[in-house]
Amino acid sequence: MTSEKLPTEAVEAAQIAALEAIAQAPDLESLKEVRINFVGDRSPIAKFSQELGRMDPALRAEFGKVVGQAKSAIAQAFEARTVLLEAERDARVLVEERVDVSIPARKRTQGGLHPLTILTNEICDLFLGMGYRVAEGPELEAEWLNFDALNIPADHPARTMQDTFFIEPLDSHLVLRTHTSPVQVRTMLNEEPPIYVICPGRTYRADELDATHTPVFSQVEGLVIDKGITMADLKGTLDHFARSIFGPDVKTRLRSSFFPFTEPSAEVDFYFNGRWIEWGGCGMVNPKVLRAAGIDPDIYSGFAFGMGLERTLMVRHGITDMHDIVEGDVRFSQGFGTGGR
Ligand code: PHE
Repeated sequence: MTSEKLPTEAVEAAQIAALEAIAQAPDLESLKEVRINFVGDRSPIAKFSQELGRMDPALRAEFGKVVGQAKSAIAQAFEARTVLLEAERDARVLVEERVDVSIPARKRTQGGLHPLTILTNEICDLFLGMGYRVAEGPELEAEWLNFDALNIPADHPARTMQDTFFIEPLDSHLVLRTHTSPVQVRTMLNEEPPIYVICPGRTYRADELDATHTPVFSQVEGLVIDKGITMADLKGTLDHFARSIFGPDVKTRLRSSFFPFTEPSAEVDFYFNGRWIEWGGCGMVNPKVLRAAGIDPDIYSGFAFGMGLERTLMVRHGITDMHDIVEGDVRFSQGFGTGGR
């Protein structure tokens, strides 16, 4: 091989191609490709390096110089382009991923109890303080416990589908409890007197949701069974209950009424802000109910009462629309100091 035959031009061409590709790589990603094709071990310029080994030693020195220069020119250009593209990328990232620390932080609101829950807790605390126990029962209740054991006959209008949610299949004899009174029966079946329980819970009736009704509502039931319990005990308990919930000057009155599970029965009203307001039902537990629950009415007597919690909350706080209670808008709860600040 003579000097003229050395592929110097091919080396130059490879160098030009490599430098051009390097100069044109728009970003670091493309530059990586360029490295594989024009700088790396399988690039044309690397192949010339490999050929050197097979060359006549006399020519090797000269050609080696040519290849070496081309390689270092390419390596330099590659280095320079890398530095430039890295600087460009860093500048871009600084802009694109900038965090504005002066933007006000998004407020994280804290959860809180619903006003109904607060009222329920308040009532439970009151009765716990008087030696009662909190009793609970299932919302999906046996028809027998919701009605029959409470002396509500099979043809009672409350048992129709217009009022009660029956659960399919109908022969399961399950209903969504229409009141908390089945918890009375459950308690009497499971415990020996004396019994002092307060039973808060969700109840269901086939009503449309409107300003004063909701198909899912809450009641609180009180039940006392002991020796020598009279209606005076009931009245005194209701007075204390009403005064604790509505204020020390509140009075209650009993109006004669009828419930199959109490005898005598009464509606309890309370006098609040200049008018009588209906609160709930009450009475002396019907001996038939005591007997159905295995308690001897010749030894024991008792009273029971039950009222709606939504109504209690609405009256106490001047809430005029039931929707506010059931819809769960935190702006409503916030007015009670809970539900997120
Ligand atoms: N369970 C009755 C109702 O839902 C209320 C009540 C409870 C009446 C206890 C008397 C005794 O209307």
